[in-house]
Amino acid sequence: MTVDFDLKQYLEARRQMVEDALEAALPEQEGPEARVIEAMRYSLFAGGKRLRPILCLAAAEAVGGEVEDAMAAACALEMIHTYSLIHDDLPAMDDDDLRRGVPTNHTVFGEAIAILAGDGLLTEAFVLLSGNTTPVSERTVQLIRVIAKAASYRGMVGGQVVDMLSQNKPADLETVKQMHSRKTAALISAAAEAGALAGNGTEDKVAALARYGTAVGLAFQIADDILDIEGDTEVLGKSTGSDEARGKVTYPAAIGLERSREAARNIVDEALEALEGFDEKADPLRALASYIVTRKK
Ligand code: IPE
Ligand code: IPE
Ligand code: MG
Ligand code: MG
Ligand code: MG
Repeated sequence: MTVDFDLKQYLEARRQMVEDALEAALPEQEGPEARVIEAMRYSLFAGGKRLRPILCLAAAEAVGGEVEDAMAAACALEMIHTYSLIHDDLPAMDDDDLRRGVPTNHTVFGEAIAILAGDGLLTEAFVLLSGNTTPVSERTVQLIRVIAKAASYRGMVGGQVVDMLSQNKPADLETVKQMHSRKTAALISAAAEAGALAGNGTEDKVAALARYGTAVGLAFQIADDILDIEGDTEVLGKSTGSDEARGKVTYPAAIGLERSREAARNIVDEALEALEGFDEKADPLRALASYIVTRKK
């Protein structure tokens, strides 16, 4: 299926919206916390693709809601994602020097501040999610629960644990699939689900978008594994070849590059199937699903 839609222009406009909202959510500050805010902002504004917030906003619109309904959740998701990158790069984890085209947080601020900057971003996400009005609606509580669970040991943290404990072990496909589903797809699925909740979608639509997100998230991490082998450091803004160097369990390690590409394409088809009951308001989500496996960064 082809979707008549200018994705490049859409992504750029949405990225700018998210940039502005993040700036408002985490301004520069003075006083004792200035240093950690500086470190949090350093990684947050280093130039990510903003894929999770963009998916969240697009999901809200796909169910008939407005972008504004989902902006707090979108920013919170990007904060959680950025925290995960800062910690993922630490010497005790992937020990990487380059992220988003600049030196990693710990190489600039030191490990202690980098750990705290990650902690600061994770917790700030929940400050943002809980809003500034009381009482908090039932939808908001539901949304907080979805995102918290995805970031927890059930999702991202659990997947990162499997990633660390599987290093230098033989890669079997089922383990990699489970690991990727948790470390990456859980938060991406939560982004779509949270957007649908914020946009006041029906239970069926919320569930369909969670399914869409799970598929897109898995395809996204397979593409990330492939880009670690074939990508260009300049374009990616992070070092390539680090998975092999660290004995990481990845899709290409388990089944080779060609079958990994094929698996990613099939999973994108599953994502598109999850959108079958949606009208043209879901076209951005359709285009995003295909972009995820053809991207160069
Ligand atoms: C990188 O995520 C980490 C993974 C989960 C694969 P992105 O590729 O979305 O990184 P940024 O946000 O654009 O820097
Ligand atoms: C990271 O996976 C997943 C996270 C939850 C951060 P990777 O370790 O493959 O991500 P990159 O390649 O360093 O961005
Ligand atoms: Mg990692
Ligand atoms: Mg890494
Ligand atoms: Mg990677």
